Amino acid sequence: MKKKISIIGCGWLGKVLARALLNEGFIVHGSTTQKHNLVELKALGVVPYIIKLNNDGVFGELPPLLEDMDVLILAFPPGMRRDLNADYAARVSHVLSAIPKNFNGKIIHLSSIGVFGLTQGIVTEDSIPKPESFVGNALLQAETYIKNFSALATVVRLGGLVGDGRHPARQLAGKTTISAPKAPINLVHQKDVVSFLVKLIQGNHWGDTLHCVSPTDTERAPYYTRECLENNLAEPGFSQEESTRTKKVLDTKSEDLLGHHYQLPNCRIQDG
Ligand SMILES: NC(=O)c1ccc[n+]([C@@H]2O[C@H](COP(=O)([O-])OP(=O)(O)OC[C@H]3O[C@@H](n4cnc5c(N)ncnc54)[C@H](OP(=O)(O)O)[C@@H]3O)[C@@H](O)[C@H]2O)c1
Repeated sequence: MKKKISIIGCGWLGKVLARALLNEGFIVHGSTTQKHNLVELKALGVVPYIIKLNNDGVFGELPPLLEDMDVLILAFPPGMRRDLNADYAARVSHVLSAIPKNFNGKIIHLSSIGVFGLTQGIVTEDSIPKPESFVGNALLQAETYIKNFSALATVVRLGGLVGDGRHPARQLAGKTTISAPKAPINLVHQKDVVSFLVKLIQGNHWGDTLHCVSPTDTERAPYYTRECLENNLAEPGFSQEESTRTKKVLDTKSEDLLGHHYQLPNCRIQDG
């Protein structure tokens, strides 16, 4: 029988992941907060639902999305950029409390390397996160809720997402006195994230904490300068001030565990 994967947050990443999972023969149910997205999700082959997680509860059709699922993927963001009062951990806990008792516990939490502080230096999956921001703290709290809920839950901490028209060089182009010119880059391409997650699900590997970040070893100033110049974007200017931003997040597990290789490790704008 085909397995059902439920994705809460069929957005920029969730939609592409849904397409890849459908191609692999899974049944995919997925959510959006907006009615106008239902048609697009349906056209992809996703069984679509409107679900909006709020601080004080859930609006929409959560029970049918969660019914008889084999894997649950949490792919909605903390939401604090849009709403300073967003309580991500509370929103995650509303989902956990709605999960049917007979669920096998296989959850993938798309978390972020934001759980680590900017000055933590080189960190691996074994490093203890010391978040400095509200978002980082909320993500870490949500990770803890999910891990406590199920021993089979896997947390995947993603680097900054690029691809499909998204790239931070576009925001930095033409800016001046950008901070931390020597800080490491912690990006990952959408295509690599999708193949990582498909391998994770197919490999049936559960109950772990993984990092999905490209292994590129370069500094912000040369990296963004080259990206801007090679793509006819205005050259960015960097501050000369010393910075304590040293965070470099390593993925030390996925190659051995999942046979995953980063296809687009340099996360270039030209990669699409
Ligand atoms: N963006 C990054 O650089 C980055 C870095 C690290 C980790 N991540 C993680 O990667 C995952 C996917 O990110 P993304 O960039 O694809 O996000 P996105 O494009 O903003 O899509 C998020 C999806 O979640 C839905 N959503 C947003 N708020 C919601 C709420 N309150 N209740 C229910 N659904 C909600 C959105 O609904 P609509 O369809 O209505 O928009 C959309 O389907 C997230 O878990 C995020 O935390 C992202």
